[in-house]
Amino acid sequence: MLRQPILLLAKSDKVKNLVSTMPVSSGIVTSYVPGETTGSAVDASAGLIDDGLHVTLDFLGEDTLDRAQADATVAAYKELLAELARRGLSGRAEVSVKLSAVGQALPDEGEKVALENAREICRAARNAGTTVTLDMEDHTTTDSTLEILRNLRKDFPETGAVLQAMLHRTEADCRSLAYEGSRVRLCKGAYHEPESVAFQDKVDIDKSYVRCLKVLLAGQGYPMIASHDPRMIQIASALASRHGRNHGTYEFQMLYGIRPEEQRRLAEAGETVRVYIPYGQEWYGYLMRRLAERPQNLTFFLRSLVSK
Ligand code: FDA
Repeated sequence: MLRQPILLLAKSDKVKNLVSTMPVSSGIVTSYVPGETTGSAVDASAGLIDDGLHVTLDFLGEDTLDRAQADATVAAYKELLAELARRGLSGRAEVSVKLSAVGQALPDEGEKVALENAREICRAARNAGTTVTLDMEDHTTTDSTLEILRNLRKDFPETGAVLQAMLHRTEADCRSLAYEGSRVRLCKGAYHEPESVAFQDKVDIDKSYVRCLKVLLAGQGYPMIASHDPRMIQIASALASRHGRNHGTYEFQMLYGIRPEEQRRLAEAGETVRVYIPYGQEWYGYLMRRLAERPQNLTFFLRSLVSK
């Protein structure tokens, strides 16, 4: 019930200015974000990889209207990928990129800039021996993101897509993307979306998630099941068995700091489990989306604000 109001409030500049003065070291932030630097992200990755997990790293940032900022984000990813390779981690570590952080939202040539920047990150990832997945943002960007994906896949077919079960269109998008070699991360969707394009009730979103799972797991691609929901995980496992999929022909994904014991349990059972690690100074939007999913954390969050 509190999800939509929190997502709406998160758009207020006043709230953003107040919350962004919190140090990254404050408890609520570190429970979801291991740090602000490349070093802190790579150290967190090494720890999880030692425990038998895989990771995908997200240099935090979104909706940039500044070309220099978009270019700085590309440089941050290149530094990260070089460091992952140097430490011998890139076999189990990939990166997740938000196109709006690399220029998609720029006026005029936004899409072109985002494509070129994403291409540069894909090239650096390939040189490091790993891959890129394009995060999905709100529904106004879906067509543009899928078009950029199509273009990138001409040279980098290993590039992963993200689809959001809450959108009405997603079952059809799953069908289009369930082809051989196509890596598709299925999540429920974290944005405030209107009724005209998205299911609003959890039950309907969950039903859509299951329909999409059926399409992806029956298909020829590589499904990446991104959910902490025990029911979705159970259903995905049952569907994978039904379709004769062996471990490693799909994977589970969860966010850093959420259900870590379940991440390890699945990995110990032989599943591939990838943890999404966000890092950097621009943690505000990410934190607000996590709070919206877990309003129980609001008290903890408000206490951190008062005591800062
Ligand atoms: P649901 O929200 O129903 O939660 C199920 C259970 O998980 C809860 O009962 C609780 O136990 C636990 N849980 C969930 N959220 C929690 C939290 N914040 N804190 C503590 N416990 C929590 N979205 C998007 O729009 N675009 C994207 O590109 C991505 N990318 C992405 C990558 C990965 C690897 C994951 C796991 C998720 C995303 N998401 C995303 C976010 C996704 O859309 C969704 O908002 C969250 O994963 C929460 O949905 P669940 O499927 O976990 O179910």
